[in-house]
Amino acid sequence: MIFTYERDLISDAFHRKNIALRVQRDPRTNLSKNLLLGCPFHHVRFGIIKNGSIDFDAGYTSRFGALTPTDLVMLYCYLYLPRHHAELQSTFDRCSTWIDDVSIPGLVTWLVDLGCGPGTAGLAFADHCRGAPFHYFGFDRSSAMRSTAQSLLNEARLSGLIDRESKFSIASEMFNPATIHDLFPIPVNIIFVASYLFASKSLDIVSLAKTLNAVILRDRVKAAVFLYVNSTTKFANRSYERFVRELGPIRRLGVKEQQIQYRRYAGRIAGKAQFVNDCMILKELSP
Ligand SMILES: C[S@@+](CC[C@H](N)C(=O)[O-])C[C@H]1O[C@@H](n2cnc3c(N)ncnc32)[C@H](O)[C@@H]1O
Repeated sequence: MIFTYERDLISDAFHRKNIALRVQRDPRTNLSKNLLLGCPFHHVRFGIIKNGSIDFDAGYTSRFGALTPTDLVMLYCYLYLPRHHAELQSTFDRCSTWIDDVSIPGLVTWLVDLGCGPGTAGLAFADHCRGAPFHYFGFDRSSAMRSTAQSLLNEARLSGLIDRESKFSIASEMFNPATIHDLFPIPVNIIFVASYLFASKSLDIVSLAKTLNAVILRDRVKAAVFLYVNSTTKFANRSYERFVRELGPIRRLGVKEQQIQYRRYAGRIAGKAQFVNDCMILKELSP
């Protein structure tokens, strides 16, 4: 069965204004010649952005011209943000009962976005929550991604897509066990998200599992759930089952392949996406 994900109109206008039009109105773009920031569409997708696996901070130079780290991030957003946004919405829906189970009324919910890119999971969670406040921690190794995440989330808050009380923190490293103590000064629920992170060759899954286990041991973390989203390729998912074993015995929904429809680029063209997702309860509320 194919589910159709329509971002609501405000959110769609947000994507158009902050990403699609910025790329389409750039003087180097020529849509009739299929050039994005001066580069042929196919080359952007398969030779430059490579499904988001590149080092965005390195920039890119070719016979088509030079692309700055910010250009690369904008091209990533143009190609992948609406798709990942819709896949995450579909994942939040699939896992909504478990998300509700860890969302204790009166406690602050933190969305912790691992390999956050441009803040994709934060924007999708804002759609899922429909204005309810949440706080956001994003981690990414790329400084160009971090600054785009910060500005898109700020803009989403200004345009009323994200509640005014929501706080954002964006950092370069996954939790450092030495600083975990300072991270949550009050009791919290955590929704961890790893969307298209596990294809990364630089990801150390053993240390990620250790870090998550250390975080959930903290008294102030009352409940936690982990959401996984990825492409369907064997390569992208190669280390996921090992990561699950490293976490130890865990209740999980199980990896499932999903198919959705969404609006891409400037919101006009319908695209189909296939992807996998999973959900694990890392810490349950004590009765
Ligand atoms: C394909 S993008 C996914 C971004 C976002 N989660 C989404 O779904 O749109 C992968 C992101 O993970 C970041 N990344 C890759 N390896 C990482 C690592 N070891 N530590 C932190 N960030 C990493 C990259 O810089 C990139 O922004």
